[in-house]
Amino acid sequence: MKIAVLPGDGIGKEVIPVARDVLAMALPSAEFVPVEVGHERWLREGEAITEQDMAVIRSCDCVLFGAITSPPGKPYRSVILRLRQDLDLYANIRPFRSFPGSPRPVDFVIYRENTEDLYAGLETATADEVRSVRLITRRASERIAQAACRKPGIKKLTIVHKANVMRSCELFRDACASVAAAAGVPFDDMLVDTAAYNLVRDPGRFDTIVTTNLFGDILSDEAAALVGSLGLSPSANVGDEYALFEPVHGSAPDIAGKGYANPIAAVLSVKMLLEWAGHDREADAVQRAVNETIREGIHTRDLGGWFSTHDVGAAIVQQLEREL
Ligand code: NAI
Ligand code: MG
Repeated sequence: MKIAVLPGDGIGKEVIPVARDVLAMALPSAEFVPVEVGHERWLREGEAITEQDMAVIRSCDCVLFGAITSPPGKPYRSVILRLRQDLDLYANIRPFRSFPGSPRPVDFVIYRENTEDLYAGLETATADEVRSVRLITRRASERIAQAACRKPGIKKLTIVHKANVMRSCELFRDACASVAAAAGVPFDDMLVDTAAYNLVRDPGRFDTIVTTNLFGDILSDEAAALVGSLGLSPSANVGDEYALFEPVHGSAPDIAGKGYANPIAAVLSVKMLLEWAGHDREADAVQRAVNETIREGIHTRDLGGWFSTHDVGAAIVQQLEREL
């Protein structure tokens, strides 16, 4: 399997090498193709990602991605949005499962629609007014609901929307409800503000959430706090033939270069990559290695510890050797 590795900027450059080492151990046949994209490349060469980079990426089976710093102003289209849209990675799958020591017991998955909404880039601007079009289509709403309904062991689908004020959300809610009904999946729906409240107040009520792009972006950072840190929360961006795996977090300039970013979100993104590629045994081993490392108290600062990115990575790799 050929994997394009795009560390990006900031802590992406620190956590992705750890994730790559874990993947190399779990899947010795993996071939890595490094691609430099992002803010630093743009500063140096005037382009954050080129057509040639896209061709290299398309020639691989999937992508392991870190994070990219958004430049001030908007001289280029966001790299991650371009990858999601151009590769048609329509389902952004974000599992949130508590670890020993998490502030709250949670176990749910957010399915975030990944190609449209206010992130479609349909904007017109003058000096005094900007109009951003919120694009919601039946096709994209059905596709993300179908992906959510395929979640192994799904108990209930909660459709999160704001249909009381937006017709686009009415379409989203109704399209998702039809898909769930046809699939025989029990479902309910909830306004996004109520969902934000209930996530903190009673997260145990959620099993599978399906929502639009912007709402999913915001709710997933909130959900990461319930687990204990953005540094623990992985994600998969999946299309019909291609996929990209990345931590939920960004480039974290506030801690970049200090060597104590938590690499676990990136490592668990590798676990999702292994599952997607059908390597379930190796994926389980990665999860167990992470659990054991956390249980042993090998924590970075976001979890109240003093270990470095490197220490946590070394502990996971050592544990993985035993688990495989
Ligand atoms: P962020 O997610 O990078 O960081 C938010 C907070 O969480 C910070 O205090 C950071 O130190 C902490 N944090 C994040 N990951 C961590 C880790 N692995 N270990 C320990 N602490 C961690 O969000 P922020 O600071 O708002 O954005 C920074 C840049 O990243 C921006 O330019 C933003 O546009 C970009 N970004 C890129 C994403 C992507 O490429 N997929 C996703 C989110 C943000
Ligand atoms: Mg985000």
